[in-house]
Amino acid sequence: MTITPNIEGDATARTTTTSAPTTTIDPGEAAGVIETTAAQARSALLEERIRRAPERFRVLTGDRPTGRLHLGHYFGTLDNRVRLQNLGVEGYLIIADYQVLTDRDVADHLVEHVEGLLLDYLAVGIDPDRTTIFTHSAVPALNQLLLPFLSLVSVAELGRNPTVKDEIAHSRQAAVSGLMFTYPAHQAADILFCKGNVVPVGQDQLPHLELTRTIARRFNDRYPTGGHPVFPEPEALLSAAPLLLGTDGTKMSKSRGNSIALAATADETAKLIRGARTDADRHITYDPETRPEVSGLVLLAALCQDRDPHLVAREIGTAGAAALKRTVTEAVNEFLAPIRARRAEYARDLGQVRRVLHAGNERANAVADATLREVRGAMANLY
Ligand code: TRP
Repeated sequence: MTITPNIEGDATARTTTTSAPTTTIDPGEAAGVIETTAAQARSALLEERIRRAPERFRVLTGDRPTGRLHLGHYFGTLDNRVRLQNLGVEGYLIIADYQVLTDRDVADHLVEHVEGLLLDYLAVGIDPDRTTIFTHSAVPALNQLLLPFLSLVSVAELGRNPTVKDEIAHSRQAAVSGLMFTYPAHQAADILFCKGNVVPVGQDQLPHLELTRTIARRFNDRYPTGGHPVFPEPEALLSAAPLLLGTDGTKMSKSRGNSIALAATADETAKLIRGARTDADRHITYDPETRPEVSGLVLLAALCQDRDPHLVAREIGTAGAAALKRTVTEAVNEFLAPIRARRAEYARDLGQVRRVLHAGNERANAVADATLREVRGAMANLY
């Protein structure tokens, strides 16, 4: 290796750095309504392309091991993951254990949470033979991608991410850690280590996906490999279901005590729904704008029964909130019964569940090692 190509490489890199931000979509816009509608339209087209040629796609998604998955996860992304898998798309599923440390000092109960996620995945129909399930911390080469990736984004871009801003506002930590600030670039490594080109996500993840696309594009521009770009520009696949609200009328979230866990018992579910917030109008309607609490409950029943929420509301009519809650409880418990039964079945053999993770980690390492080798080749880091 001579010095000259390096200098030329450097000059190219600098040009890319100064010009890139002007050609990039402001991640702040990605959370906006207009951007979301556009993303929904793109998702519908993407869905078509996947149906036509599932073998051309590779899906990556993931979750932080911070607690049990709930119905918001189910209708927001889990059902999409299972559907894609069953269409024949190769899948990768990351349990993002490093990402837990973005808003807290210590990731506690990790073993329990990781096992819980594995059980949830298996219970909803993720098949470990077709979907590689793995953890961040077990795949060193994936994490190493973060270093070149961080060199491709500006501090200002990281600071504009609306999802990160929101998480910082709700963080329980006194100071914002470097990991909180940079984890979307780490998430780009999660997606790109396996060259994932489809990411089924909820709307809050769109800014991260936009950053991932930016990183892929800039890497390919800055480190050309003769017509064979190292990374794809992954596309978001938004769920068709509207955002699911929790029992208090705000976004369903693990940390807000307003979510119905897949693993909750039928009694816990009934109790949570009994305590749900409603309003004073006995006439039940589906009107998410003006009646978020009541409409959230109607939507929950509608999704579980795969019916139109307006129809569900009309059937309850003037029977009031108590009738609505009975309908929702029944719909949810009926929907979750087979999932809960399968979960209990898997929970009887945790040794087998752990073997699923070990096999997944092994496969993910082989893929990550190969990608890192390619990246080092493109960056002329092979000595
Ligand atoms: N950020 C996601 C969440 O909080 C979890 C996650 C980590 C993820 N890496 C990912 C999602 C890659 C999609 C793709 O739920």
